[in-house]
Amino acid sequence: MKANKIPESKFKRILCWTWRQKSRTNICPDSPSLEGKIVAITGGTRGIGLETVKGLLKRGAEVIVLSRNKKKDKNIIRELRGKVYFVSLDLGNIKSIRNSIEKLEDVLMGREIDVLINNAGMAVKGETQVSPQGYELSYAVNVLGHHILFQECHRKSLLSENAHIIAVTGDIYFLEDDCTANFVYIGNKGVNAYSRSKLGVMWWARKIYNLYPQYKINIVHPGVIPMGLGANQKSIFSRLLSKALLTPKEGAQTTLICVTQADIENGAYYHNALGKATLPESDPVFNLEKADKFWNELEDIYTNSYKNDFSLDRALA
Ligand SMILES: NC(=O)c1ccc[n+]([C@@H]2O[C@H](COP(=O)([O-])OP(=O)(O)OC[C@H]3O[C@@H](n4cnc5c(N)ncnc54)[C@H](OP(=O)(O)O)[C@@H]3O)[C@@H](O)[C@H]2O)c1
Repeated sequence: MKANKIPESKFKRILCWTWRQKSRTNICPDSPSLEGKIVAITGGTRGIGLETVKGLLKRGAEVIVLSRNKKKDKNIIRELRGKVYFVSLDLGNIKSIRNSIEKLEDVLMGREIDVLINNAGMAVKGETQVSPQGYELSYAVNVLGHHILFQECHRKSLLSENAHIIAVTGDIYFLEDDCTANFVYIGNKGVNAYSRSKLGVMWWARKIYNLYPQYKINIVHPGVIPMGLGANQKSIFSRLLSKALLTPKEGAQTTLICVTQADIENGAYYHNALGKATLPESDPVFNLEKADKFWNELEDIYTNSYKNDFSLDRALA
């Protein structure tokens, strides 16, 4: 796959998200087969995630969709062909994640996950919202929930010895410089919280790369797609803009490439339009002090909530 530098200029970097996006997006080949592989994916009920599930099933993988909407899941099952299971999981609620691990173990029946795709993501509309445990909601779902899911799978040896983890980010993250559990905003600033959480995804993946060398990890920017995140806008401008955007199927390609192709480099960041993307020196990813603080906060929340269930109900400070 091609390799490219992400431009240092913010303007040029933003242009990379949409400029001739369709023609520059890599398409995943149909082979090799994923026969015999077990893939677990979050956010597989719509958008990019649902198309990723279809692509995985088409290539013969057994797919476990970790999702929160049972009624919708039943409708989706009807249109999916292949070995697919649904496990109920609300990433924004630590208690729900714990419960889902037991169900995940039932589905696995002693087998292990070969690929874990952290695809689910959400952006809050309106003012600050917090999770049942009191953490800013984008952080809780996009970062903390995936961290707890990973740690629980790791702790219970549900991941195969050399499992491949895919963390789906959004290149918009570079507009922010921190990611914390207690971010508070006034007004319609959910996009800031979302972008911060996606910087968190970048930091998280780099920590996994350094601390868990037994696993392979990649980070994916799927492209810009008019789905739940920013979709459902009916203005003429939005409809015209959507022509420049990818379909969810196109948005699934970079993740599918990372899961299936042999030349994918461990630890690398894959961008739908740029391929293997090298980050500019000014990128906030390289703020190691903040990255460490971010990781320590995640680990503290994880270990405290594990030790003491009361801490699950703490209010946002
Ligand atoms: N769309 C874009 O332009 C774009 C650009 C860059 C990066 N991305 C990233 O790509 C990924 C997929 O985006 P998308 O556009 O396909 O989003 P989408 O259409 O809004 O779908 C989001 C998925 O996440 C799930 N989800 C949301 N909150 C959850 C929670 N609390 N617990 C469990 N699952 C939850 C949703 O499940 P429900 O059906 O239960 O709501 C849904 O399956 C996200 O990580 C996003 O940040 C998207």
